[in-house]
Amino acid sequence: MNLTIALLPGDGIGPEISRQGVKAANAVAAKFGHRLHFRHALIGAAAIDATGDPFPEETYKVCSEADAVLFSAVGDLRFDNRPDLTVRPEQGLLAMRKKLGLFANIRPVNTFDCLLHLSPLREDRIKGADFVCIRELTGGMYFGDKQQDDNHAFDVCSYTRGEIERILRVAFGYAQRRRHHLTIVDKANVLATSRLWRKVGQEIATEYPDVEVEFMYVDNAAMRMIQDPRSFDVMVTENTFGDILTDEGSVISGSMGLLPSASTGSGTPVFEPIHGSWPQAAGKDIANPLAQILSVAMMFEHFGLAEEGQLIRRAVDASLAEGIRTPDLAAEGAQAYGTEYVGTWIADYISRS
Ligand code: IPM
Ligand code: MN
Repeated sequence: MNLTIALLPGDGIGPEISRQGVKAANAVAAKFGHRLHFRHALIGAAAIDATGDPFPEETYKVCSEADAVLFSAVGDLRFDNRPDLTVRPEQGLLAMRKKLGLFANIRPVNTFDCLLHLSPLREDRIKGADFVCIRELTGGMYFGDKQQDDNHAFDVCSYTRGEIERILRVAFGYAQRRRHHLTIVDKANVLATSRLWRKVGQEIATEYPDVEVEFMYVDNAAMRMIQDPRSFDVMVTENTFGDILTDEGSVISGSMGLLPSASTGSGTPVFEPIHGSWPQAAGKDIANPLAQILSVAMMFEHFGLAEEGQLIRRAVDASLAEGIRTPDLAAEGAQAYGTEYVGTWIADYISRS
């Protein structure tokens, strides 16, 4: 397969983890006879510095023309604690999602047996946890009307029936391909948008009789995720709830550096770690590249290349088993390895297999 991939490293640790994703992708491509053509583009603070715009037109063009986007992270300390600044790195990511029509963000949460001890949660409660959070990505408060002055501010949360229905159908589809259980997470006891989500959910559930549907308030879901994460198979929720719950999900896996995601919809799909740019670690060679590398696995799988994805997952498992881990994952007293070293080790494993 020939694939043109838009490469958007962004800010902070973005460039260093991006390089590891590229190494893994190239190793897999060489092995299976695929041709990957990478095109670099700017996003986030890097794009603001160069052009004044966190998602320049040129970047949009590169993304639109590509088969996939491999995105890393945006965010920069110069913008934190500066609520007065109206042009912000994160707007680049939001603009990309919106302009590419990527309404469905797929965030798998699972555990690795050899990392169970890293979670603050009891091993016997999390072992075997394996669920997918489907996060709506182009609606809700993130994109509603906004206003901000010194005395008053608001972010409108708005959803149309069409926006709700299309994301729920994605979630029902996942549930049908997995364990046939779907949890629709909302706050229908308080929010009007949530009540519409629940109504549409009840209506279309009748078209999926093989899926057992459960409705759950988000506060309860946040608790259940910690108490009994194995009770979830597929969960679907609106944008802000999904953002919050998936960071919580990373605590089940053991590190923020482990969770990949795929953002899909009408335009070029984007494959992106769920973590941020961790500017304090930039250039220190300590960032965990696994979320990025697993995002590459999701990219191959998206194109129906299951074996390629599997090989990347095997390489990641092997690196963990062999103790080739960045500091966030290293066992007590064990040596930790750098971002580049782990990335190269995984690419070599793929090449050798
Ligand atoms: C994520 C991130 C982004 C989000 C930020 C960087 C805008 O936290 O992908 O979860 O809130 O969607
Ligand atoms: Mn987030």
